[in-house]
Amino acid sequence: MTTAYLAADGFIDQLQEELRRAGAAVRRRHERLLICDGPPVGAAWAANIWHDCVELPVASVGAAAQALRAIQRNWAMYAPIHHRRANLVQERLPHVSARPIVFPAAAPTAPLGSWTPLAPDLLLAAQHCSSPFANGEVAFVEDKTGPPNRAYLKLWEALVRLGRWPGPGERCLDLGASPGGWTWVLARLGAEVLAVDKAPLDPTVAALAGVDWRGESAFALEPASVGPVDWLFSDIVCYPARLLRLVEKWRASGLVKNFVCTIKFQGATDHESAAAFAVLPGAQVQHLHHNKHELTFMLSTLSS
Ligand SMILES: C[S@@+](CC[C@H](N)C(=O)[O-])C[C@H]1O[C@@H](n2cnc3c(N)ncnc32)[C@H](O)[C@@H]1O
Repeated sequence: MTTAYLAADGFIDQLQEELRRAGAAVRRRHERLLICDGPPVGAAWAANIWHDCVELPVASVGAAAQALRAIQRNWAMYAPIHHRRANLVQERLPHVSARPIVFPAAAPTAPLGSWTPLAPDLLLAAQHCSSPFANGEVAFVEDKTGPPNRAYLKLWEALVRLGRWPGPGERCLDLGASPGGWTWVLARLGAEVLAVDKAPLDPTVAALAGVDWRGESAFALEPASVGPVDWLFSDIVCYPARLLRLVEKWRASGLVKNFVCTIKFQGATDHESAAAFAVLPGAQVQHLHHNKHELTFMLSTLSS
């Protein structure tokens, strides 16, 4: 069995190290794509995981398109080499819309395969991939006037990947909320938000209906002083191990239904802490397209 992992752009070293730790045997590196023997392993730094890859010998551009179409309709191309020839193949395949998403919206559900030219006469193709987006890249119709910064895009992406988001009547805790991109997203969805940050919110965000702000450290906040919350969000700049202790405290309180937190790395990537997040029951840890040197941790206590 062959599984291939497409590294998030700029994070091939992190993916290589993660696969090494998971014991996956990399047979070949094809630029950002690491082709491995064996079944899939958890890979947070992969933008997309290609399952059950097959090699297809193809004599011509037409034969390549025909071979892919015979497997399924929708294909995303990753072509670090033989780019022009690969484009000719992709042009002969049914068009797959890459139209930017208007948030909130569910991710596309149509199966999307991935393929790459290994040589002019040889393709690697995977019918099933982990991401519903071509090469894991998600584009949104941006709001250039509402939010105070671009951090909102990373939360939009996390919620689209989860396929769920807070709504009216739900209570959210936004830790490390300033200047308020995430709080803006949540308030716009009609949820009630308690924003916690020593720094104040942007006044336009602070004035939105349902938004409350506490000017204190998120680490000193006692769950009992907040009460039950449907969603706990954190975008605090802190070491991963400290965030993990914070998450553990809130999990132990039993007061939180869903977590969405950014695990931020300063300097070297702390692979051990990332793995400790990933093994929590019900957890997903993933490098989103809008993440920098950070991962997004998502956990629903309802699915654990
Ligand atoms: C990347 S910014 C958050 C951006 C925010 N999510 C947004 O959408 O605008 C990180 C925030 O973490 C806050 N922070 C750092 N240490 C904190 C702490 N102990 N408690 C609460 N917030 C903290 C910083 O003040 C900063 O505003």
